[in-house]
Amino acid sequence: MGSLKKKNFMLICLMFLHILVLCMAQGQVHHYDFVLKETNFTKLCSTKSMLTVNDSFPGPVITVRRGDLVYFNVHNQGKYGVTIHWHGVKQPRNPWSDGPENVTQCPIQPATNFTQEIILSDEEGTLWWHAHSDWSRATVHGAFVILPPDGKYPFPQPDFEQIIVLGTWYKGDVMAIYDDAVASGGNPNISDAHTINGFTGNSTDCPTEETFTMRVSYGKTYLLRIVNAVMNEERFFGIANHNLTLVGMDGAYTQPLITDYLMITPGQTMDVLFTANQTLSQYYMLSTAYFDGFAEFDNTSAKGIIEYIGNYTPPSTIPSPTLPELRNATAALNFTASLKSLATPQHPINVPKNITRHIFIAISLNVLPCLPAGRTCKGPPVNNTETIISASLNNISFSTPKIDILEAYYRNINNVFTKDFPDSPELFNFTGDVTNISQYTTQGTKVIMINYGEAVEIVLQGTAIQSPENHPMHLHGYSFYVVGIGSGNFNNFSDPENYNLVNPPEVNTIGVPKSGWVAIRFFANNPGVWFMHCHLERHATWGMDTVLIVKNGSTPETSIRKPPAYMPPCPKS
Ligand code: C2O
Ligand code: CU
Repeated sequence: MGSLKKKNFMLICLMFLHILVLCMAQGQVHHYDFVLKETNFTKLCSTKSMLTVNDSFPGPVITVRRGDLVYFNVHNQGKYGVTIHWHGVKQPRNPWSDGPENVTQCPIQPATNFTQEIILSDEEGTLWWHAHSDWSRATVHGAFVILPPDGKYPFPQPDFEQIIVLGTWYKGDVMAIYDDAVASGGNPNISDAHTINGFTGNSTDCPTEETFTMRVSYGKTYLLRIVNAVMNEERFFGIANHNLTLVGMDGAYTQPLITDYLMITPGQTMDVLFTANQTLSQYYMLSTAYFDGFAEFDNTSAKGIIEYIGNYTPPSTIPSPTLPELRNATAALNFTASLKSLATPQHPINVPKNITRHIFIAISLNVLPCLPAGRTCKGPPVNNTETIISASLNNISFSTPKIDILEAYYRNINNVFTKDFPDSPELFNFTGDVTNISQYTTQGTKVIMINYGEAVEIVLQGTAIQSPENHPMHLHGYSFYVVGIGSGNFNNFSDPENYNLVNPPEVNTIGVPKSGWVAIRFFANNPGVWFMHCHLERHATWGMDTVLIVKNGSTPETSIRKPPAYMPPCPKS
């Protein structure tokens, strides 16, 4: 695998409205082959066959530079249809290669292939790629590193870099777990371990299991590029005796944040510096769960070892970092609320000030009736009636259509989606006493239509229905500024007064705090069909998703590109 062909091309990023910047990026062109196939892996002393890219778990690391153009030819040699998504890549005007199943494409069927064109623009830092169909991303994911064009970071040059992929390990077949959960309507089986770069670390059940070990030299500084590819839980992360300095997140730079722990949600990526400046020894790198809901979950931690190079007697007990406790929602919120973007002339930001489109989305866990009659359902009973678990945005649980929304939109095919996702929910005391609020939701494939060029604000409001939890909300096709965050109900009068419009973090995934809210802003400058969903896989499965369709502007340069000659065919209905 590698870059087979390199040539220069000019990428013209057209900006509009009052931004009027014309940035010309000289990029290189890369070609990669991704071969999806079943591979045997043994972990926790048990062997299973699972879908991988190029036989590896985690999958291959892709390293390119800002503004490059990358072609991935995805060959499906597996047993079922799959799609691949390039998480955090904006793909200007090119939703065709974005990947979410039945949103921008139908699955790549076994024994076929699909070439995706990945257009990098202003992303710089660490992103990732993952499968975006059913639960296949558990085993199909990897880091996507985007280096500065001149190799210079806006922080002290690290001596070494290390990818850290946080993952989830299921002893069983993930697709079977998904199918069972969908059939029963209950909570999916929980995972068996958490991994760092594919290592589960040794456990009492399986002492032969290896632990990820990173060897460091005293006095050197390391850049960790951390990807949270975990399926269903936010994580706290730290290294014993060492401070961390967050310098980037979701492919954009942050104001350096010195901390002894991170709270990183599924979908997020963080670039973190640490200096090996402690007594020569071994220290644990640790990721633990942050979970503050009611459902059953996997409370295992993932450990790696930071091992100093040199002569010393290894400690009898390796020190572990003290991370916030499992249910410490305050620690989680404090970390997220302290994020700021770098916002320098070299790395400017462009926060919308005069909002032309306001959207307010309430996020809930819900139930749906157990149908058809005679079915046994494992959702939480409501008034002694069986239910299936569901989830919603503005009380609409997303139904995935049979053919992709992008195709239906582009070719005016009716009866695939409707354009009536409401701009605000029915009002209730979202985070207060919800005992009189129905836990049942409605279903639909409703999208949010947005005019090209609008200055958009979306307030994402967590609710207390069923189980108040943190929800890592992710938007495709954009990064956005998190201008406000808080607990309780969003207050339309007082909260905007405290917005950070100076250096808000620019991200693609943000944890909406448990029983709290975030306000995000962006310019709708990327026409296309863009999925928005909770990055906890079980919530996304239950319908905590919607789609933003950003309409074309008035010129070809502000319109969706032509589709590629070949798209994976959809089933004929
Ligand atoms: Cu990381 Cu919709 O995806
Ligand atoms: Cu969620």
